[in-house]
Amino acid sequence: PFTLELAQSGLTFEIGANETILNVLEENDFEAPFSCEQGVCGTCVTDVIAGTPEHRDSFLNEKDRASGKRMCICVSRAAGRKITLDL
Ligand code: FES
Repeated sequence: PFTLELAQSGLTFEIGANETILNVLEENDFEAPFSCEQGVCGTCVTDVIAGTPEHRDSFLNEKDRASGKRMCICVSRAAGRKITLDL
């Protein structure tokens, strides 16, 4: 589990082991664009403000992956205890 912080509102959510960032956003009525929900299409790519993503997608290129500044929120998670997204 880790904490998701939304930079634009300051809201935080706990993301459990069996949840995704995208699922939790939807449950809380945030409309984040998505399509495949499998880390393939790139529709859900979101900018990371703080924290380090643990990439589980197969969409981002090596440069994006290494920079840690973008992530696919349908499958990827936080590597640490908290991640802050530009949402
Ligand atoms: Fe397709 Fe996330 S919705 S990569």
